[in-house]
Amino acid sequence: MEISEIKKYLATKIVGEKIFVYDEVGSTNDILRQLAGEGTAADGMVVVSDSQTAGRGRLGREWVSPAGRNLYLSALFCPEISPHESPVFTFLASCSLVEVLSGYGVDATIKWPNDVLVGGRKISGVLTELCASNDAVDYIVIGIGVNLNLPEEFIRSKMGDIYEKTTSLSILLGENVNREKFCAKLINSLDHFYGEFCRHGTQAIVDMWIKRWGFLGKRISLDVSGKVITGVVERVDPTGFLYIRTDDGYLRRIVAGDTVF
Ligand code: BTN
Repeated sequence: MEISEIKKYLATKIVGEKIFVYDEVGSTNDILRQLAGEGTAADGMVVVSDSQTAGRGRLGREWVSPAGRNLYLSALFCPEISPHESPVFTFLASCSLVEVLSGYGVDATIKWPNDVLVGGRKISGVLTELCASNDAVDYIVIGIGVNLNLPEEFIRSKMGDIYEKTTSLSILLGENVNREKFCAKLINSLDHFYGEFCRHGTQAIVDMWIKRWGFLGKRISLDVSGKVITGVVERVDPTGFLYIRTDDGYLRRIVAGDTVF
């Protein structure tokens, strides 16, 4: 990917002000964490790579990261929040993705906690990693993978048993997309939502996310450590936790899990 092409479409204040583009890395999250650890990274710094040899998703899963096809992007944020509020940055990333996809005429939905789906198939995932000390965040790295130009045959042959649940923007649009342009649009959107966070705080992002998520007051099933919990969502708090009223009348606070459809 060409950095000059990305910059052509950038219109940001903080996110992407500093941007590094690589041909191949282990994981863009690791590069950014390393820079942040060395003290050379700044709020809003972005790392993008054409491919990843050790792309990873949540729960130690692999993130398939072939060259020349997708977007692998990590962004660094240094907000003054406590560590338990960090999930709000996953929400911020999901809102950004939904907005960018809608600009392509694609109606994306959010699957708590971190997936973006179209027609029930995953197009993007967010991996949020955190460094904190003394109950304050030092930095948060948001890693975003988006399937852009993956044909059906690739998904079928290379994505193992998740192939039926995976899609790409090129499949949805029937044509390949300009990756640099998509990348810039996503950075612009991250910058917009980060601005909202800086101006209005955590709850504002949670509210924007709830609107796009659409499950408040609705019935949901969640896999929590292998046990399925079903109930009505009563509340999402600023830490990203869900409060589910189960059929036996209990209000359960869900800290981590996967949505089951
Ligand atoms: C998930 O759905 O489990 C999250 C996937 C996150 C993948 C992205 S690609 C860019 C960044 N680098 C990584 O190694 N992972 C994230």
